Amino acid sequence: MTVKTKTAAELEKMRIAGRLASQVLEMIAPHVQVGVSTGELDSICHSYITGELEAIPAPLNYKGFPKSICTSVNDVVCHGIPTEKKILKSGDIINIDITVIKNGYHGDTSAMFCVGKTAPHAERLICITQECLYRGIDAVKPGATLGDIGYAIQSHAEKNYYSVVREYCGHGIGDIFHEAPQVLHYGRRGEGLALVPGMTFTIEPMINAGKRQVKLNRKDGWTVTTQDGRLSAQWEHTMAVTETGVEVFTARTDESF
Ligand code: MF3
Ligand code: CO
Ligand code: CO
Repeated sequence: MTVKTKTAAELEKMRIAGRLASQVLEMIAPHVQVGVSTGELDSICHSYITGELEAIPAPLNYKGFPKSICTSVNDVVCHGIPTEKKILKSGDIINIDITVIKNGYHGDTSAMFCVGKTAPHAERLICITQECLYRGIDAVKPGATLGDIGYAIQSHAEKNYYSVVREYCGHGIGDIFHEAPQVLHYGRRGEGLALVPGMTFTIEPMINAGKRQVKLNRKDGWTVTTQDGRLSAQWEHTMAVTETGVEVFTARTDESF
């Protein structure tokens, strides 16, 4: 697996795709309310991506995925399929994962939302998981390694008595949705590939309140849940390694890196 670095022209396309993906999350936030179905959230995002942004929702038909976004509620770790039948109730936590393609390049980002009144333990999981993402991003600079990113995430999660999902990881991204390298959310300092300017990838830690083991729903082929039924949270950004550190393409207006 070779990791190709992007040209300045490619990086500019990724900057645009990343900004659009972040805008979808900002647009959908006020719609995440008690009583809405995940199917409605999907159709709102689909219309916005194709209509307003004139972009393509990358998940739709990707390896057979049937919808335009992923919606992962409570014990769903990732790849939840939106449906009219799943109606959000007070206390739920949900990850919404958006990937858009614009001018042939991808922007991939996800965020957690609380529905109604959520338990303090659930909000704490969400908060620590976002800190895991931010610590991973902080580790990104030329000369650092993928192991440094994984270590930053794993050590913060485990210090807080949470566990890191191993079966899914961040990924290189560009004109291809998922490309080399794999960005593991666990690891040891100094190990793995050394980062160089022009590399583009996601960091997207999935952190479980209980044990790290997951199971795949064999009926739909997509939905991944925690084996123990406890909560899971995830946040994701798409970024590039720069000469001096990192540029986060999917930063929202309330975030600065
Ligand atoms: N957006 C997910 C990721 O972060 C991938 C979703 S693939 C799909 O890599 F097919 F489930 F949409
Ligand atoms: Co991703
Ligand atoms: Co994603």
